[in-house]
Amino acid sequence: MVLTRLIYISTLSPTCDTHTLDDILAISRKHNQQNHLTGLLSHNNKYFLQCLEGSREAVNSTYNRILDDERHDNVQILYFQEIHTRAFGDWSMGDIPESYLTALINLQFSSTPDFNPYEMSGESAFQMLLELKQRLPSE
Ligand SMILES: Cc1cc2nc3c(=O)[nH]c(=O)nc-3n(C[C@H](O)[C@H](O)[C@H](O)COP(=O)(O)O)c2cc1C
Repeated sequence: MVLTRLIYISTLSPTCDTHTLDDILAISRKHNQQNHLTGLLSHNNKYFLQCLEGSREAVNSTYNRILDDERHDNVQILYFQEIHTRAFGDWSMGDIPESYLTALINLQFSSTPDFNPYEMSGESAFQMLLELKQRLPSE
């Protein structure tokens, strides 16, 4: 089983509210624990940026399910890599809400103070998640 990391971005559908986000996190944590997947989901009121780590098979099958999900669209892969170690092994799906995505953080990893992951490279997105995980409690 080859350990793999995938980072993708997407746009929230207009109907996506905080209840929807809670539902997404709950089902993600349940499935990801079963599939030995770990990762983080960051989001503001417009965009998602998610990292999934685990076996290549589990990452791919989960990503294919996520692609079909009508709660978001314009899904784009930023980063896909075979890895030696997990970076986000403490979270079956860590939640990074908008309050973490400060102007300071956005300016550190992108060209604007706003969170717009469509303007980010895969490496910047990964580095930003590494920085954010240090502020996040373990699950
Ligand atoms: C932004 C976003 C992130 C998601 N992340 C995950 C995830 O990490 N793991 C997962 O199993 N499902 C995730 N989902 C949910 C899947 O798209 C899908 O709804 C769910 O896996 C189906 O579960 P069910 O067949 O038990 O209903 C995510 C959905 C969205 C919109």
